[in-house]
Amino acid sequence: MKKIGILFGQENTFPAAFVERVNQITKGKDIVAEYVIIDKVLQGEPTEYAVIIDRISQDVPFYRAYLKNAALNGTAVINNPFWWTADEKFFNNCLATKIGVPVPKTVLLPSKEHPTDTNHNSFRNLKYPLDWDSIFKYVGFPAYMKPHAGGGWKSVYKVTDVQDLWTKHAETGQLVMLLQEEIVFEEYFRCYCIGQKYVRIMPYEPRNPHHLRYDAQMKAQGEAAKKLLATMEDYVLRLNKALGYDFNTVEFAVREGVPYAIDFCNPAPDADLHSVGEANFEWVVETAAQYAIERAKAHKDGQNNLSWGTFVTYSAGYTPIIPEATSSGKKASKKASTKKATESTAEAVTEASEDSKKTTTRSTKSKNK
Ligand SMILES: Nc1ncnc2c1ncn2[C@@H]1O[C@H](COP(=O)(O)OP(=O)(O)O)[C@@H](O)[C@H]1O
Ligand SMILES: [Mg+2]
Repeated sequence: MKKIGILFGQENTFPAAFVERVNQITKGKDIVAEYVIIDKVLQGEPTEYAVIIDRISQDVPFYRAYLKNAALNGTAVINNPFWWTADEKFFNNCLATKIGVPVPKTVLLPSKEHPTDTNHNSFRNLKYPLDWDSIFKYVGFPAYMKPHAGGGWKSVYKVTDVQDLWTKHAETGQLVMLLQEEIVFEEYFRCYCIGQKYVRIMPYEPRNPHHLRYDAQMKAQGEAAKKLLATMEDYVLRLNKALGYDFNTVEFAVREGVPYAIDFCNPAPDADLHSVGEANFEWVVETAAQYAIERAKAHKDGQNNLSWGTFVTYSAGYTPIIPEATSSGKKASKKASTKKATESTAEAVTEASEDSKKTTTRSTKSKNK
């Protein structure tokens, strides 16, 4: 019997629905799902779970350490706790520029206050002042300023000009911030991606109050809509395969028909029935349940059962992950890597496209009720 566990915090609707759905599908035969129960954490000792869906360790360091030990002992943790520990939004954007996904022009800003236990001597490698002229010219105004590792719309600012930037930056304490070009969008989407292959594209209106944000409809029509959906699906898959997330959402702001990835570091994305709505909720519960079962079936005792993104696997294999970036042996390796990337994307798009097309239509329809 293999166990699938879910580790969660304050959310109320998704965990119960997930456990119930897995058990409905498997009928308790060979695979069961339950809430993770921890009564002690001993180094090097396995947990009883083949698979754990992690919805909370971003806020609970104790759980994060528990999950790393679980992974070491063979648990397939969704999402990979090692990668999530390493990742942040600036790196996400940097990687996007290398894998052909459009992102707003973005720069990293040092924190307003010195990190605890550091002082001005800790920053002797920084030039004062920074080259603000180039930075402002690159990003432009208005701009968005937001934490380089954050979420939930916390400390996200729209800044209108230099003075406004100084005023708002002064409020950000020790947070390292991104300064980002504003994408003035004609439409906006939020896309679930599960297992680096199942994609659901949801029209989303970030300017609505929280409970009405999914109450939106796609504006593009006909061929333009088709093309936009296919492009977003391709970008969602590229990002999640490169980063190695099995459960993530990607947000796009569409400007002149081009989807720019805005926020794609959401490894415990909101899946609450009351915010995403019934149809999206059903898709997430069903897809997450099917995917967890898939992972439990593929699980091999005593092995590393984590997913890793191509950024890590190619790096570890000394394969250039970024074809354009190679200098020596450029042609051969470029060809090989490009082929690899194309094949995997094409394969994944085929796998996901049917489902996504169906579900996108369903999601759009459900908004008409
Ligand atoms: N570069 C941008 N251009 C336009 N709108 C943006 C940009 N960055 C953020 N926003 C708006 O701010 C919201 C919150 O920013 P986001 O990057 O998603 O942060 P969080 O991770 O906290 O959700 C987005 O949903 C979007 O509406
Ligand atoms: Mg967001």
